[in-house]
Amino acid sequence: MTSAIGTKAASATGTDAIETLAIGKRFGPVVALDGVDLTVPRGTVLCLLGHNGAGKSTLVDVLTTLARPTSGTARVAGFDVLAEPHKVRRRIGVTGQFAALDDRMTPRATLVLLARLHGLGRRAAHARADELLERFGLAEVAARALRACSGGTRRRLDLAAGLTGRPEVVVLDEPTAGLDPVSRLALWDVVRGLARDGAAVLLTTQDLAEADRLADTIAVLRRGRVVASGTPGELKARVGSRSVTVRPADPAAAEQALRAGGITPALDPARGTLTVPAASSRQVSDVLRALDAAGIDPGDLTLSEPGLDEVYLALATPDSAGSARDDSVRGAA
Ligand SMILES: Nc1ncnc2c1ncn2[C@@H]1O[C@H](COP(=O)(O)OP(=O)(O)OP(=O)(O)O)[C@@H](O)[C@H]1O
Ligand SMILES: [Mg+2]
Repeated sequence: MTSAIGTKAASATGTDAIETLAIGKRFGPVVALDGVDLTVPRGTVLCLLGHNGAGKSTLVDVLTTLARPTSGTARVAGFDVLAEPHKVRRRIGVTGQFAALDDRMTPRATLVLLARLHGLGRRAAHARADELLERFGLAEVAARALRACSGGTRRRLDLAAGLTGRPEVVVLDEPTAGLDPVSRLALWDVVRGLARDGAAVLLTTQDLAEADRLADTIAVLRRGRVVASGTPGELKARVGSRSVTVRPADPAAAEQALRAGGITPALDPARGTLTVPAASSRQVSDVLRALDAAGIDPGDLTLSEPGLDEVYLALATPDSAGSARDDSVRGAA
């Protein structure tokens, strides 16, 4: 096996830069991860999708050696997270660890400093900093004291800071949460660029559209388990491309009418809505016809592209249909 690796190329013995095998993590009675198997080959992006409490951050913490798994094994850049955490840490780019940056420093000075810490010479460190400032749209605020920078700027700097060492494995926990649309698009470009340059990227998100744009592979995490994985295309094929939602005056009666018409809707009692996957407009009219046959007005009608809810619905296990958004709210099952 590889050891004492100094360069990116030298460590590229296997193709999978992230590999987890039956990773489990418990917090007392809470099972945060329940046997997660994942691989992320070099040069690819894996998006880990899941609602609040699904276990995304816990998996990120295990991969970045911040948390110890209670069972299973994980290798990152060829090194075991339990046996060789220091070697893992030296090879990964993560975010969220630079929150305590010196407020009096500027984004440029921060990135130059980090690049120097990664062993770059003065000139190379400045070049690297400028490249990152450009990539993350920070050039305009490069010379501003951090304390005068907005929250979004700080987040982008935090992301840039995680990449100063040109990591071969990048692990990002909801990197686009709280970013404005422009910064979000810029980050997507950065992530794709990292993969093009050969890095393995694992990022978590609650946004199916984001995963669709970014991922080579999507893994859907639910209650600590991977309930589906595949390319965005494969996943969407299982989910259907769209759904139709109606809000009739009497949702229960409408549900009955749809079922009588051979259609299985997902009822959201809180919102009083019924949702049906509808890949074609024909399926939309089927819904309307079934309601009409029972003399039911559909009320508000909306067509939507699939989101994480639809993915979950399509993959629903008997206990999960219509369940709360927060996956940490566990049923008795
Ligand atoms: N330190 C901890 N102690 C106890 N329980 C924890 C701890 N960290 C996480 N959990 C629990 O583990 C489960 C998974 O949490 P995790 O933070 O990994 O979810 P997540 O998918 O990142 O959610 P979010 O979208 O809210 O960030 C949840 O039930 C959570 O309450
Ligand atoms: Mg989280």
